[in-house]
Order: sequence, then structure tokens, then C-alpha cells
Amino acid sequence: MSLLKILVTCYVLATVSAQTGTPAGCPLTLVTQCPAVATPAPASPASLGSPAATTAPGSPSPGTAAAPTSGSAGAAATVSGSGSTALQSFLQNDLGRTQATSAVKVSLPYSGVGSGQGQQDFLSRTVNYGVSDIPFTTAQYNALGSRQVLQIPAVLNTVSVFVNITGVSRLVLDPDTLARIFLGQITSFGDPAIKALNPTLVPPTGNNISIITRADNSGTTALFTSYLVKASPSVWNLGSGLSVNFPTTVRGVTGTNSVVAGLTAVGNSIGYATSGAGEAAGLTEVALRNFNGQYLTSVQANYDELANQLVLPAPTGDWSTVNLTYVAGNATFPVSGFSYYLLDANQAANANGALLKQLMAYLQTPEVQANAVIGGLRPLPATINAAALRSVAAIAAPATPDFGLAFTKPANAPIVTGGTSG
Ligand SMILES: *[C@@H]1O[C@H](CO)[C@@H](O)[C@H](O)[C@H]1NC(C)=O
Ligand SMILES: *[C@@H]1O[C@H](CO)[C@@H](O)[C@H](O)[C@H]1NC(C)=O
Ligand SMILES: *[C@@H]1O[C@H](CO)[C@@H](O)[C@H](O)[C@H]1NC(C)=O
Ligand SMILES: *[C@@H]1O[C@H](CO)[C@@H](O)[C@H](O)[C@H]1NC(C)=O
Repeated sequence: MSLLKILVTCYVLATVSAQTGTPAGCPLTLVTQCPAVATPAPASPASLGSPAATTAPGSPSPGTAAAPTSGSAGAAATVSGSGSTALQSFLQNDLGRTQATSAVKVSLPYSGVGSGQGQQDFLSRTVNYGVSDIPFTTAQYNALGSRQVLQIPAVLNTVSVFVNITGVSRLVLDPDTLARIFLGQITSFGDPAIKALNPTLVPPTGNNISIITRADNSGTTALFTSYLVKASPSVWNLGSGLSVNFPTTVRGVTGTNSVVAGLTAVGNSIGYATSGAGEAAGLTEVALRNFNGQYLTSVQANYDELANQLVLPAPTGDWSTVNLTYVAGNATFPVSGFSYYLLDANQAANANGALLKQLMAYLQTPEVQANAVIGGLRPLPATINAAALRSVAAIAAPATPDFGLAFTKPANAPIVTGGTSG
């Protein structure tokens, strides 16, 4: 049984017992133990499409202060979130450790259901916070009306194109060639357009390309197609968004892990995924052309240079204007975006508002940010981290009680220290 599956199972068990009021002896033991032993497994094939992962959002429901978390009479303050699968490993592992060590008992469930569903869960108040790899569009933002919503940068999320071609450890693709592949117009790695960009490439025979995309509403797809819209205006004609109408020849799958698992299982394949997830699986990252015409992978890029191009709105403003794809700069990675925590600024009526605010502050601490790399993500550049903390300060919530949320180093992960950029 994969660790992720154990986590999901634990979570569901704990949720069930919370709903029925049954003292949750065994499930809690597992919940508090799993994160401590969990290593991020973004590419674990056993975790693919786990149906349980989609059943969790909204339970326990926000505002429900009491969720039994042990055999004792004590109740835990609960703050629930749902959304981005790109952040699922990062959040579930970190929050699992945090709730196991907090000074005051807390329950911090997170469900990876995709950015689109996370937005919906937040809007319908099914969860206390949503997580989305893209901000609300201007239309969505306007529809919020008088509801004061914070979109707080969570982590830097870069999306890379990965290939699995036997013997190929470097591949360069320009935007038009990339677009033609995902439109099904280029069907083999032996195509002259690919050969022109990669003169020494010797693709294996039987080299028809297997294309793997996301089938669910996905912020990853939104970033990838945003790049193509901007960088390949004369070829890419499917627009951009959480989902687009890819040709029927692509294989659409659900969730970041499924894309990575597909690429590692099938040769002559290409797909796009959260950079760190593909890197961890040992896939070859394609060097993409940025706005300045430089070819680079996400590992070679400079994210402070990217951050310096941005003009940030007010905390409760319209963040759809913050666009990180295909911006100027020699070392900017062109398929970049922030993931966002979506929450109501006014938490005065929420019994667990104090916990929510402390959780948001905790998630911006240098230790948590630095360790996002273990989940395949990148820390926020320093200037963005500072802006995120200003947004956290804008949450109207009581300052007490102090729940004592503290960072614990993952047991089986490398020690990650250092600055907040990279
Ligand atoms: C490879 O692609 C070509 C062009 O789309 C197609 O005619 C051929 O049947 C494909 N070969 C295999 C083995 O799928
Ligand atoms: C960035 O701009 C592209 C192209 O105009 C658009 O498709 C995309 O939605 C924008 N992204 C964000 C986060 O606003
Ligand atoms: C590429 O696909 C083959 C199956 O054709 C698989 O054996 C191999 O492990 C994959 N490579 C990577 C890096 O996952
Ligand atoms: C960007 O790269 C180009 C080409 O290598 C170079 O001429 C230019 O000086 C660089 N600009 C900066 C700001 O580094």
C-alpha cells in the first residue's frame, strides 16, 4: 500500500469517525504517524486516481469546531482546505506533522481535488480555504461582489514539459513545435522540426509520440496553455484555461501523479506536470524558449528575476493581473505561476478564524517555504513572501488562542534550509 493511499485511508477513516462521533482510536494513530514516515511520492503509480482522494473535501465542514481526534474528551479546532493536486503532497505531509505537534489540538485536513474544484469548494464555503494554481479570473473576481477575498501566494509552481525517450537526456522545443505536438500535427520524434532544434537527436524506431495531458480541471493545464497562447500565437489555437479541448489522440488523465506515472510507464511520451514531480521521477525536462529567446529548464531559471517583473495588487484586489507566464528576462522560466490560498478576509464569525490566520502565517515561514521543494514545488521569492505576509496580516481574526503551530522536519526527507528563492 502506498504511503499516499495510507494517508488518504487514514483521513477518510478519521472523517467517518468524526461524523459519527465514534472515538477514533486507530485512525488517529495512523493520521499522526503517517506524515512522520511519509516521503513525498509524486510518482508513485499505486497512488494513481485513488478514488478516496476525491471524497474528502468539505468534511469536516468549516465552522464545525469539534472533530474528535482521540479517545480523550478533547476536541480539535478544525481548518479544512481543498484544491490543487500540485500542492497535495506538500500540504498533506506538512499539515499532518503540524497537527501532530501543535500546542493546542488541531485538525488540518487537506484534499487534493484540483484547482477548479478547490475554487468551487471555497466559493460554496465547503472548506475554510481553497488552493488554486491560478487566481480567480477578472469575471470570477467581480462576481465575488462584496465578499472580501484574499488570494495569498502560497508557493511558486512551475510547470515543465517532460519526455521519456530512451537515451535522450536533453531536448529543446520551441513554442510552435511544442504546440504542433500537442495539437497532434507532429506525431513522431523523428519529425524534421524536432530534428532542426535537436541536430544530434537519434529517436528510437517506432517513435510515434504518446501525449499525456490532464483531463480534469487543472491549474497545471492553465499555466501550460497560457504559455502556448502567448508564445505560439500563430499555431496554438485551443486557447487557455483549466481545461482545453485537446485532440482525441491525447491521453487525458486525472491529477499530477497520473501524468508522471503515465510518462514513466510509456516510452516515446511527452506531457506536462509540476516541475518537481517530473524531476523526482527522473524524467527528462524539455528546455523551453522564454520571452527573451533563451532556452532553459525550470532548474536553470532565476525566480527573483521573475518576481522583479511583477506589480502586485492589494491583498483583496484582483490577482488575475499577476501573470508569470512568458515574461521578459533572460533567465525567467516561461511556465511559472503562483499557487494561491483562497480565503475570506473577514473571519470574525468563524469560530476557527484564529487558527486559520495562524495557519496562513505558518505556511509562509521560511522553513515551510523551503521544504515545499520536497513536494516538487519552489519557495516564493523573497519579495512575494513579504507580500503574502502583508495579506495574512489583513485577515480579521482573533489573535488567541495561540495554537502553537510548529514546523517539524520530515523524518525521511533531506534537510532543506536556506533562502526563500530558487
Ligand atoms: C504512427 O503515426 C502515424 C501518423 O499518425 C500513423 O499513420 C501510424 O499508424 C502510427 N503508428 C503506430 C505504430 O501507431
Ligand atoms: C496570463 O495570460 C494568458 C494569456 O493572456 C492567459 O491565458 C492566462 O489566463 C493569464 N494567467 C493568469 C494567471 O491570469
Ligand atoms: C520510460 O518508459 C519505459 C517504458 O517504455 C520505462 O521502462 C522507463 O522506466 C521510462 N523512463 C523513465 C525515466 O521513467
Ligand atoms: C540577455 O542575454 C543577451 C544574449 O545573451 C545579452 O546580450 C544580454 O546582455 C542579456 N541581458 C541581461 C540583462 O543580462
